[in-house]
Formats: sequence, structure tokens, C-alpha cells
Amino acid sequence: MNERFSKRSATARQSGAMSNPNSEEAIMNAPKSRLLLAVALALASVTVVAAARDDLLTGYATTAKKADPAFAGFSATRGEAFHRKSFAGGKAATPACTSCHSTDPRTAGRTPTGKAIDPLAVSVNPGRYTDPAKVDKWFKRNCNEVLGRECTPQEKGDWLSFMLSQ
Ligand code: HEC
Repeated sequence: MNERFSKRSATARQSGAMSNPNSEEAIMNAPKSRLLLAVALALASVTVVAAARDDLLTGYATTAKKADPAFAGFSATRGEAFHRKSFAGGKAATPACTSCHSTDPRTAGRTPTGKAIDPLAVSVNPGRYTDPAKVDKWFKRNCNEVLGRECTPQEKGDWLSFMLSQ
């Protein structure tokens, strides 16, 4: 051990952790870096969730375009009309999406048997449409109940655009 080294470590020992400018800075910065980490994680999960919904819309757009080369994008206004429309092809007890879901997607709905359904609007229910398998399953089941057939990719994309806009 040389002389210079032992002198330096002696000074560090004497000054103690709290008066060491570097460790003081580290203590002051800890909450800030924790906050930055939390913000980064929150942004990352928002991005993943938004990406899942974007993927759904992109998928519907690709199939819609294949079915109809004149396909010109989705419309939230058309989706809103679809959500409220009464159809004759499905079950008599549930002629519309609004037979179970609320007319205003920001409020809760109710099935004919009385089971409450959480709001469909993403603004009040951010976990909506983040699991593609769940979305597919319910589109299939509910479209058959209401329309007596599966919804077309255009109908799904319009309806989803409406819910994302709410
Ligand atoms: C018979 C009652 C009923 C009708 C009618 C109905 N739904 Fe639903 N829907 C449900 C239930 C129950 C769920 C599952 C519970 C939940 O997600 O809160 C659901 C969930 C969904 C989901 C999945 C949401 C997610 O978070 O992934 C979609 C998409 C959906 N419905 C679309 C429709 C569309 C479009 C119509 C009209 C064509 C419709 N529903 C009509 C009862 C219904």
C-alpha cells in the first residue's frame, strides 16, 4: 500500500458518507431517478397496450381491403351508428349491441340476465381491447347474437374506432 493511497482513504473515512459530496448527490437524486424509472415503465406499458389495439385495427384493415379494394379506412361515426342499430337477424332479446352494452360507452351495461358489464370506452376502461383473443371471442359471440352472423372486418374496425374515440 503506498502512502498516497492510505492518505486518501483516511480522508474518505473521516469525512463520512453524509458529507461526501458524491454520496449526497446520490441521495438527492434517488427519488428523481425512481420517478424517471416509473415514468419510463408507464410509457412502455402504454405503448404496449396501444400497440395491441393498433395491431387489431391494422389486421381488420388488411382483411377489409382484401374483401373490398375500395375500402377507405374506418369511421368512428359509422361505428357509433352500428353500436346503436337494431338488427333483425339475431336473437329477439338482443337486437343491438346496446341490448347489453350501454348506449353511452362510458357507462356500464347489463346483460338480459342482469350481469353488469364494465364500460367499453377506452378512456374510462384503459384495459379494453388489449387481449386480441378476448376481442375475437366476444366479437364472434356477440355479433352472432345480435346480427345472426359474424361482423365484417369493416364493422369491427368501425366499432372499435368508435370505442377508441370515447
Ligand atoms: C348478450 C349481451 C351482449 C350483447 C348483445 C353484446 N355484448 Fe359485447 N360483451 C358482452 C359481455 C358479457 C362481454 C364480456 C365482459 C366484458 O368484457 O366486460 C362483452 C365483451 C365484448 C367485447 C370484448 C371487449 C374487450 O375488452 O376485449 C367486444 C369487442 C364486444 N363485446 C363487442 C360487442 C359488439 C360489437 C356488440 C354488438 C354487435 C356486442 N358486443 C353485443 C355482452 C354482450
